[in-house]
Amino acid sequence: MDPATFDRVDGVTLFEDIYGKQTTVGQYEDALERNVIVNLCPGTPTPADLREATRMIRDATVTLTKSDYSMDGNLLQYGAQLGSARFRTELSVFLSEQYGDTVLPKNVMVTNGASPSLLSVCKALFSPGSTVFAEDPTFFNALKIFKDVFQFNLIGVPTDKDGMQVDILEEQLEEHFGSKNFTGTSHRPFQCMIYTMPTFHNPTGTCLSHARCAKVIQLARKFEALVFCDDVYNMLHYNGQATAPPRLLTFDKPSDLDYKGHVISNGTFSKILGPGVRLGWVEAGDRLMHLFFDSVCMHPAGSNNHFMSEVVAEIMAAGWLRQHTQDLRLQYSDILQDIMMIFKQHLPREMTVRNLEGGYFFWLELPARCNATRVAELAKDKHNVLVIPGWRFSMSGSYQNCIRIAFTFNEKAVVIHGVTKLCDAIKEHLNELPAVEADVKNTV
Ligand SMILES: Cc1ncc(COP(=O)(O)O)c(C=O)c1O
Repeated sequence: MDPATFDRVDGVTLFEDIYGKQTTVGQYEDALERNVIVNLCPGTPTPADLREATRMIRDATVTLTKSDYSMDGNLLQYGAQLGSARFRTELSVFLSEQYGDTVLPKNVMVTNGASPSLLSVCKALFSPGSTVFAEDPTFFNALKIFKDVFQFNLIGVPTDKDGMQVDILEEQLEEHFGSKNFTGTSHRPFQCMIYTMPTFHNPTGTCLSHARCAKVIQLARKFEALVFCDDVYNMLHYNGQATAPPRLLTFDKPSDLDYKGHVISNGTFSKILGPGVRLGWVEAGDRLMHLFFDSVCMHPAGSNNHFMSEVVAEIMAAGWLRQHTQDLRLQYSDILQDIMMIFKQHLPREMTVRNLEGGYFFWLELPARCNATRVAELAKDKHNVLVIPGWRFSMSGSYQNCIRIAFTFNEKAVVIHGVTKLCDAIKEHLNELPAVEADVKNTV
């Protein structure tokens, strides 16, 4: 399949048709006869999770619209620039509990979701041609924002099992900015951006090691780089811990002598409630919060999504979001264990799959001589299973032998069916290639 064809398949997969056509267990039972497609591409909750979220939104809206606050006209006002006091307070309580760390209302601001807020921050703090360092591979929507919208000079930083390779990042920063004498302004204090997903990275699922987190902060201070963390999956952790892994923001300690505040933690309700609410937050130190308060790019007319932020504040105040997030963790970790079993049984031996500790995605690394686009084609044409080949997440076109699998979009039985069929497609592809001792042993 040529990339152009795949683009079309992908376009349909991700944004047009398939969101309205999720495969249910009922459909799956006669999937082969009815040609039902199992879509392992989108990073979004299942219909059942969204139904539960819809119930919460309905009940919260009923309560809220009857309140004095609403009757006094506040609910449908523009709202305060950084978000209403109630939203920021409820959010800080929720985050403090989820992170096991103190988050203060003064350090959070409401946004229209993680991607819109990335757009806003790029607009507020950088100019076309600015330099951004990002993990290679990375979230493909961020790639589009950096390249297509802002024409940023985008530099890929290689990754391994511990996330971004910070030694290479250091060399790259040195090469581009080592000889520059940067004096920013109070409104444009950063000379470049480091865009990262330190916790449960999309697409690889990795976490940045603590040593590397500390190094990123050191580099950000040295080179005056803004560290933009897409902290989108942090609360979806499956290792049995009570709280999410520490976010990179916590390594930028206000008690440090050279602290200024170089980090933004960019969060969203898309993964723990539903993407349709278009609601998220940024968390940052005081310097950045002052900048956001002053920036019309961050809040073009009063609060972002004021109405929905009040509904979600009601949901948080009732404790429903805490319970729902816990339910999602249990549900996803259950699916995950079954997928690991399928991989153990069906994948060729030379392939290793990392134990995933959180997030939405498996990243399969096939033997180097494999072509993931061909596997995706076989999976689609022969087995009605859709997956995304790794190069779609790469600014360098690398990862031709990798595949991303999203396991939260469909019901469990459907995901299991899809992953089993994907394993068949991988074996079929291996059988197309000249035989190599190691993987012939385990192929069909
Ligand atoms: C890393 C990352 N950032 C941002 C988003 C989008 O978040 P939102 O729906 O809040 O715009 C996603 C979702 O796919 C993501 O994986």
